Amino acid sequence: MDAFLPEHKRTIYCGQLRSEHIGEEVTLCGWVHRRRDHGGLVFVDLRDREGLVQVVINPEGSVEAHAKADAIRVEYVLSVRGTVRRRPDGTENAGLPTGEVEVAVARLAILNESKPIPFSLDDDTDVAENVRLKYRYLDLRRQALQEKFLLRAKLVRSAREYFHENLFVELETPVLTKSTPEGARDYLVPSRVNPGMFFALPQSPQLFKQILMISGFDRYAQIVKCFRDEDLRADRQPEFTQIDVEMSFIDREDIFAMVEGLMARILGDTLGTAIAAPIPRMSYREAMDRFGVDKPDTRFGLEISDFTDLLSETEFRVFAEVAAKGGFIRGITAPGLAEASRSDIAAFEEVAKIGGAAGLAWFKVTNEGLTSPLTKFFKDEQLAAMRERAKAKPGDLLLFVADNFDVVCASLGRLRLHLGEKLDLIDRSLFHLLFITDFPMFEWDKEEKRWSAMHHPFTAPVDEDLPMIETDPGKIRAKAYDVVLNGSEIGGGSIRIHSKEVQSRVLQLLGIDPEAARVKFGFLLDALEFGAPPHGGIAFGVDRLAMILSGADSLRDVIAFPKTQKATCLMTDAPSEVDIKQLRELSIRVAAQAKSKA
Ligand code: AMO
Ligand code: AMP
Repeated sequence: MDAFLPEHKRTIYCGQLRSEHIGEEVTLCGWVHRRRDHGGLVFVDLRDREGLVQVVINPEGSVEAHAKADAIRVEYVLSVRGTVRRRPDGTENAGLPTGEVEVAVARLAILNESKPIPFSLDDDTDVAENVRLKYRYLDLRRQALQEKFLLRAKLVRSAREYFHENLFVELETPVLTKSTPEGARDYLVPSRVNPGMFFALPQSPQLFKQILMISGFDRYAQIVKCFRDEDLRADRQPEFTQIDVEMSFIDREDIFAMVEGLMARILGDTLGTAIAAPIPRMSYREAMDRFGVDKPDTRFGLEISDFTDLLSETEFRVFAEVAAKGGFIRGITAPGLAEASRSDIAAFEEVAKIGGAAGLAWFKVTNEGLTSPLTKFFKDEQLAAMRERAKAKPGDLLLFVADNFDVVCASLGRLRLHLGEKLDLIDRSLFHLLFITDFPMFEWDKEEKRWSAMHHPFTAPVDEDLPMIETDPGKIRAKAYDVVLNGSEIGGGSIRIHSKEVQSRVLQLLGIDPEAARVKFGFLLDALEFGAPPHGGIAFGVDRLAMILSGADSLRDVIAFPKTQKATCLMTDAPSEVDIKQLRELSIRVAAQAKSKA
């Protein structure tokens, strides 16, 4: 192994070499991606952050370097000095940005060795995820991942620049704090000096950013870690990053204009893509009716249609009963799927059932009319009207679910996405942004038998709906909005309540009595009494944005050190047991049961 001397320092990145550098002497530093020995001639693909380049070590170049080349193995760390030259005719690699050139080595230093690596770092090799996560430092060397992280860094930089140019103040909010009611479980941190007391890690800086508005900072933006102890999915991590924003003396239109500017900047800087401005808006109700979800992927059609009025009085018991109970009969027209087999349809039914549907009724559209085991229950006029509303052509398949509103939306929403994928209707080159507006303020929690805030309890109700807080809370609309990108919720926010009186009424409806409110966020209620300006804001999920913009399938591909589905880190083995002495200092005793389970 060679010491790292000043002459070993890089003059250019491996991945940057092009034909314009031919004739130059360069020093490269990097890792051995591949090594091929052609009888005395050794080829090494040397890799760094910017890509890889072929270097050639032959005895004519340097006897000394050539003598060392024998020892080189994959992932050894090298510094090489040599001359950039054109590759011999016929050996260029058009698939590689550096593929026209190679470096003829005159000096070689082996700066470090590597054990044989547990998996190949070629981007196309499929490696079990738990192995990748255990050896995350190797996994992160893969070029496809590095590109995603470089994009993520660009995204964050571009957001910061946008905020600085637009006079936002970057302020830090505490990580050791009190529980914020965003609806998930808190991560708790025991206080040593206050035995039996706990901090909560913030689920978001929500309360602090509102207080910063009350303090007069006017425009705040922070790129900030948030922590939520929720059940994990591909688009959720227990710690994630928000672009968190709050503004004073504004209404929804000012937030939307800011979001449009920010999104245009981010998409432009990261992908060179322009956005369609203004960003289209859709009410929550319209999104649910047309797409079955509040975060529709509008890159393809397959919209849901309502048939309740046409099909409520048929002999088909399921439809009749649902309609009699005030439910809905809705369906999707799947183009060209009339050829679907029984087992295809059974698979569609399984998808609908995940959304809660009891079944899936289907009709094939043929030149002769509709065919289905169910046609006997319908009059000819009903079948004709059904076909007309479905805008169905011969060869299409009509799929229906009858149930209450939530189930119909959830099951057809899922089925629509499934069919969109299956029929390959989604154009992956598109970036469809959408504002979802007019969310209901409250939803009825069936299990807990009480009202809960759909966004959070600090969201302002629409002014003209205020009188209904005490009489008809289900009808109240919130001044809340989400930002959706390609079917993912990438941001959400609201205009806030800045009146203590309205805040108290909302908390009362939510069953948070004044005593409990005082304990949890009395500081905000107090602050609201000292000249709170009208204010509102939004927060974006950086990880989700990075995932979508980089074309990743999972948040784990855009978070350097992510957690598994079980909220563990396979590289560090966190969480882990701690020393009994540490626990004693914190006045904590771990229940025997939890210990033995661990
Ligand atoms: P909300 O809870 O909607 O709003 O969060 C804002 C955005 O953060 C992202 N996000 C997540 N990303 C990864 N993993 C998670 N577990 C996770 N949870 C949320 C989403 C989401 O749109 N305080 C409010 C914002 C406000 O009102 O200004 C808030 O946190 O992309
Ligand atoms: P059944 O009456 O249960 O034999 O169902 C007859 C057909 O109707 C089957 O294809 C079921 O999948 C379908 N079906 C049952 N329940 C529903 C429902 N709630 N909505 C739509 N189709 C249904």
